[in-house]
Amino acid sequence: MSRTAEWIKAGQVRELKEKGSAVIKGGIAVFVHEEGIFAVDNRCPHLGFPLHMGSLCDGILTCHWHHARFDVCSGGTLDPWADDVPSYEVRVEEETVWVNPQPRIANHIQKYKDRLMEGLEQNISIVIAKAVVGLVEANVPDAEIAGVGIAFGTRSGSGWNSGLTILTAMVRVIPRLDKTGRILALYQGLVHVARGSSGRGIHYLLGALPSTDVSYERLAGWYRNCIEVRDTQGAEKLVITAIEKGMSPEQLADMMLIAATDHFYLDGGHVFDFHNKVFEALELVGADQSKQVLTSLLHMMGNPSRSEEQHHWQAPINLVEPIQEAVKALAEARTAGADAAVAVIDEEAVLQQLLSEEPLETIALLRDLLLAGAAPAQLAQLVTLASAERVVRFHTQNDHRDWIAVLHTFTYSHALHERLQRSEEALLVRAIFHGAMSVYLDRFLNVPSAKRPKAAPGESNAATNTEELLQLLDQRQQVDQAAKWVFNYLKSGGEMDALLNTLGHALLREDAEFHTFQMVEAAFAEYERWCLRTDEFAVKAQETMLLACTRYLAAHAPTARELPHTAQIAWRLHKGERLFEE
Ligand code: FES
Repeated sequence: MSRTAEWIKAGQVRELKEKGSAVIKGGIAVFVHEEGIFAVDNRCPHLGFPLHMGSLCDGILTCHWHHARFDVCSGGTLDPWADDVPSYEVRVEEETVWVNPQPRIANHIQKYKDRLMEGLEQNISIVIAKAVVGLVEANVPDAEIAGVGIAFGTRSGSGWNSGLTILTAMVRVIPRLDKTGRILALYQGLVHVARGSSGRGIHYLLGALPSTDVSYERLAGWYRNCIEVRDTQGAEKLVITAIEKGMSPEQLADMMLIAATDHFYLDGGHVFDFHNKVFEALELVGADQSKQVLTSLLHMMGNPSRSEEQHHWQAPINLVEPIQEAVKALAEARTAGADAAVAVIDEEAVLQQLLSEEPLETIALLRDLLLAGAAPAQLAQLVTLASAERVVRFHTQNDHRDWIAVLHTFTYSHALHERLQRSEEALLVRAIFHGAMSVYLDRFLNVPSAKRPKAAPGESNAATNTEELLQLLDQRQQVDQAAKWVFNYLKSGGEMDALLNTLGHALLREDAEFHTFQMVEAAFAEYERWCLRTDEFAVKAQETMLLACTRYLAAHAPTARELPHTAQIAWRLHKGERLFEE
C-alpha cells in the first residue's frame, strides 16, 4: 500500500462499525455507512456545527443546525447557501482505517472563485463572504478577486450600477486598510454587486460595424450624436467598433466623456462619476474586458436629466448662458492658437470665489484662468476642495437627506479631478464650470454654517487612541464631536495610517449606503493628492478632506451592522473558531 506517513489512523473497522462515526485528529469525522467508510471535515461549512452530531441516511449527511445536506461520499452540498464540505480519502489496511488529511479538492483558488460566482448569481452574502476570505487567505490579488464581480456585474442586464461603483471604490481604498478591512472592503463591494446585478438577465453585446476603416474623429462624432439623441444601441455599436479599431482606453474615455459633458451635470453628477469608475474598473480588469465594461454604461445614457433644463440652473440667476459663453470663448482662443503661459493660481482666492454667492464672477474667473493657461486638473482639484468645504460647513439642522446634495457635488468634482489628471481633452473643462456651479447651488446648505473645529485656549488636544473615534460613532449624530476628535488627533500629531484605517473600518463595519462608500473613497483619494505638498494651503486641504469624511460617516452611523457580521462569521469559520457553542 502507498499510504504515506502523514495518514491518520482512524481505528479498527469493527470499532467504527459499532460506533457508526468517530471524530479523529484534525477535526475529521469518519462515518461507516452502507458498507462504506467516509471521511469529511467535522465542521459544517455553513456555520460550523459538528457534522458527527448530524444524521446520515441514504448517503445524505444532514447537519442538525440549519439542515444543510451533503453527499457523504464527495462532500458536495444540495443547498447552495451552504458549501461543499471537504472530504478525505479513506483506505483500509489489515482491518485498520486510515484517512489522508489532505482534502480531495485540488485547486482551492478556482473553487473559491467558482463559489464567489455562485454567491453573486444567487445573491447569498455568506457564500460571498466565505469565498472572499478563502481568496484573500490564498493571497489572490485584490484586482483579481474584484474582477470576478466586475465581470459578473457588467454582464448583467442592469448595466453599471451603484454596486459596481462601490466595489471599484473599495479596491482603491484597500491600500489604506489592514487585513480585516481588506476582507470587509472586498466583501461589501461584492455583496452590493450581487444585490444590484443578480437575476437581471444577461446583457448580450451588439456587433461592431462591418468595417473599422473610419477615423477616430468621425467615430467620436457619431458616438456624440447618438448620445445626444439618446440612441444607446447606436452608441453601443460605436463603442464596440472603436474598441475593435484599437482605440486606447484614453481615447475611449475622451470619446465617452465628451458626450457625457455635452449637457450640464447629467443625473445630478452620477453620469460623470460612473464614467470615471468604469474606467477605473477597466484599469483593474484589463483591456480585454473593454467591450463588456464600457458598454455597461450606456443604459444610463438613455434618458439622464440635463441640469441646464432645470429651473434652478436658469433662475433667479441664469447660470447656463454664461457658461456657454465662457466655453465658446475658450474654443475661440484654441482656434486662434492663443499661446497661454502657465498661470500661477492664487488658490485661496479661487477657493473663496468658489464658495461665494457670486456665480457669474466665478464663471468669469475660471474662464480667465483657463485662458491664462491654468491647468484644468488644478482647477478641478480646487472645485473638489470647495465642495468638501461645503460638507465641513453642512449644518446638522438641515434636512438629513440634504447630505446627499453636498455629497453629489463632492464625488462629481472628485471624478472630474481624476479624469483631468489623465486627459488633456479641451472639451472636458466644461465640467469644471458645471461642478463649480453645483458648489454655488449648494450654498444654502451652509446657512447657518457649521463651525470648523478649532483649538480652544487652554484646551487639551490629546486624542491618540483611534478606538475613541469608533466609540463616538457607536452613537447617533456625533457629527461635530467626531470632527472635533479628528481635528484634535491631527493637532496631536496622530499617526495617519491608523486614522485612515479607522475611518475605513468606521465605514465597513456598518450597513453603509452607497453614498457613504463614495464619500470615503473620494476623501481618501483627495487627501492623498494634497499630501504630495506640504505648504500651509495643502495641509489645511488635507484636514478638510478628513473632516468632511468624518462628518459624513458620523451623520450616517450607526446602522444594524448585519452585513459585516456575516463576513466576521466567515472569517471565524475559516480560522476554525467554534460558533455553535456561543
Ligand atoms: S446547516 Fe450546518 S451550521 Fe447551518
